[in-house]
Amino acid sequence: MDLNRVQAVDDAIRSRHSVRAFLDTPVAAQIIQDILAVASRAPSGTNTQPWKVYIVSGKKRDEMVNRVCSAQLEVNANPELAQQYKETFAYYPQTWISPFIDRRRENGWGLYGLLNIQRGEKEKMAAQQLRNFKLFDAPVGLFFTVNKAMGIGSKMDIAMMIQNVMVAAKARGLDTCPQAAWNHFHPIVLDVLNASDDEELVCTVAIGYADPDAKVNTFITPREAVENFAVFLDE
Ligand SMILES: Cc1cc2nc3c(=O)[nH]c(=O)nc-3n(C[C@H](O)[C@H](O)[C@H](O)COP(=O)(O)O)c2cc1C
Repeated sequence: MDLNRVQAVDDAIRSRHSVRAFLDTPVAAQIIQDILAVASRAPSGTNTQPWKVYIVSGKKRDEMVNRVCSAQLEVNANPELAQQYKETFAYYPQTWISPFIDRRRENGWGLYGLLNIQRGEKEKMAAQQLRNFKLFDAPVGLFFTVNKAMGIGSKMDIAMMIQNVMVAAKARGLDTCPQAAWNHFHPIVLDVLNASDDEELVCTVAIGYADPDAKVNTFITPREAVENFAVFLDE
């Protein structure tokens, strides 16, 4: 075993966490190109490579952020409008069960606690939710789509590609936040991307240089011990 290699790979994986405050420092297009090239070594069922990714920065980023933030603000003012913005696939269950709901709550309240947002402070919660649609100030958003003709397995393939992107970014001093929040606003997102009718939005990744002074970026989430989720069978 090459211990340097183990350490390099493990460090990149372990140091990745969701960053929710970025500097406006631009990210060189060549770095994104390199990240995508290595990330595309991800496996995919029968090597279908079903991912398509839009790299959105500059004026296009601003257009995306402005349009989706406006839509979210309209929904906040008139919650009935949320009907227009349904996800195309259910990322979360309709009915939550333990232990997943407990972890979800712990995560949500942990983040809000760090940001001094107390229960019932709806305006502060809405403001934090809106930060999703500012890409947490990241200069680049990666919008992953899939051809609607593909099966659910393609979303697994794209998830593997995305994890590669996040780890490869980390190795290059960049941070990320995967975001399902944008999926609600897929009609607007796909319009801004000028995507074709056969594309479905799967996930968005904010990418950039983390703001080292932002308290929100000190949020590190726990993980279960291996024995709590792994079953070794040997007989
Ligand atoms: C597919 C996916 C979608 C996510 N969507 C969001 C999102 O919309 N907004 C957000 O702030 N975090 C989002 N997250 C980040 C999770 O909250 C985060 O991964 C989890 O709490 C574990 O923390 P860590 O990424 O810092 O290890 C998403 C994560 C994944 C994998």
